[in-house]
Parts: sequence; structure tokens; C-alpha cells
Amino acid sequence: MCRPDHFEVTYAINPWMDPAAPVDRARALSQWEILRALLEQHGHSVETVPGEPGLPDMVFAANSAIVIGGRALSARFAHPERQPEGPAFHRWFAARELRELSVAAETNEGEGDFTFAGERILAGVGFRCTAAAHAEVQRFFGLPVLSLELIDPRFYHLDTALMCLDETTIAYYPGAFSPRAREALAVHYPDAIQATEADALSFGLNGVSDGRHVFLDQGATGLIAALRERGFEPVPVDMSELRKGGGGVKCCVLELHTPRP
Ligand code: ARG
Repeated sequence: MCRPDHFEVTYAINPWMDPAAPVDRARALSQWEILRALLEQHGHSVETVPGEPGLPDMVFAANSAIVIGGRALSARFAHPERQPEGPAFHRWFAARELRELSVAAETNEGEGDFTFAGERILAGVGFRCTAAAHAEVQRFFGLPVLSLELIDPRFYHLDTALMCLDETTIAYYPGAFSPRAREALAVHYPDAIQATEADALSFGLNGVSDGRHVFLDQGATGLIAALRERGFEPVPVDMSELRKGGGGVKCCVLELHTPRP
């Protein structure tokens, strides 16, 4: 995670961002601190990457890379405003002991568009990354990538419209996907939770699950009830201030996945 010490909205690269609307950084910081504390209270260890002045979106650390089993592919951002984040995050990865570390050759915003789902990686295409990026990820991690086309600019990254709850269960908002992607999701995940547009607009799908606890926006009340019904333990969080940048819980958390052998 990356503390929002430099968070602000000075440009607009998604429909949620409005540089004319005021941002309360102190409030963003306290919401972020609460999220970190909740993750820790539920047994997760959190490491932080220092934020940099002039890079207001660094708080959305999920975009920095994909990390699975000690292999890391670090990001290549789509927009010039975020491109310097690539090297800033990469320095942090380079200082760790990783089995393998590369910078993506194709435009790739890390876990924004790529979700590790156990046997496969689910990948969004349409707004930020391309089919070529999907092929690169498949080669790098040696895991099949299921490409899903996103069609609604409000859900510009896969992680705004779909979340993995455990290795076989997902939740998603069908309206964010093309008919073909919807078909693929129905075939591979017949038991998925289908979220409403209201829950998706509350950034409820932009959550983090450890297979039991699901950290998600408190506004997604329908999804919170559906998760409880399925035996998950929702942990509601208020991320309203960071949403002004177009991000929620998941965007703030890069998961360092360690798959079961
Ligand atoms: N302002 C950022 C952007 O548009 C928000 C990124 C949100 N992160 C995410 N994982 N969806 O790039």
C-alpha cells in the first residue's frame, strides 16, 4: 500500500475524477489508515511504498504490478500523468528478494486489469491495457489468461467490475462487460454473485478477499448482504474520499500472491 500523502485530483483520466471538486486529503489519509488497520487486524501484513510528490495517484498501488509466487511484472502506465509511477514503484520491487522481476513491455496497469484467480488470471481489456498485454502476462506467469472486454467507461479497470472471492468464486457486475465476456463468465463461473449497478457504482466490487473476509466499500449494501448469505465475512470500509480519484479498497492494495503449491 502507498499512503495518500500526496493524494489530490489535478487531472482527469477516468470519469470519476473532477479536478474542480475539492479533495480533503486529511480525510483520505484517515480512511486509508483505517483500511490498513482493518487488514492488519484480520491477520494480513502490510508493507508500504513511499509516495512521491507530484504523483497523486500513487495511492492506487494495485496498479503497480502483478505479483504471483515471487514473480513480479511491474507496470507500464497508459497515461503520461501516471507514467513516472512505473519507475517509482519498480525501485521498491527491485529492493526485494524476488525470483523474477521484469517491467511490462506492453501497457499494463497491474492488478487494475489483472486478477489472479487460482488456476487462471482474469484480465480486462478495452480502456487501459490491450490484448497484447494479456499475451505477455500469460507468457510471463505461465497461467492461462481469460480476456474480458470492458464496455462502460465508469468501470475502466477490471477491478472496478469484478472481484475474486476465493479460487473458484467471483462477484461481478454484468453490465460492465461485452456480451461475449458475459458468456465466458457464465461458462466459467456459473455460481458467481451478480452485483447490481448500484453496488458497482459504490465500488463494492473493488474489494479485497482473503477467501473468508471481504474488505469492501460500505455503500455496497446489496453485495454485503449477498456475501454474508454465501458464508463470507464482509468488512465494510468508507473510501468516499479516495473515490474522487476513481479508486476504492482494491485499488489501494497490491496483493503479493503466494499460491498453494
Ligand atoms: N486515478 C487512477 C486512474 O485513473 C485510479 C486508479 C484506480 N486503480 C484501480 N486499481 N482501479 O488510473
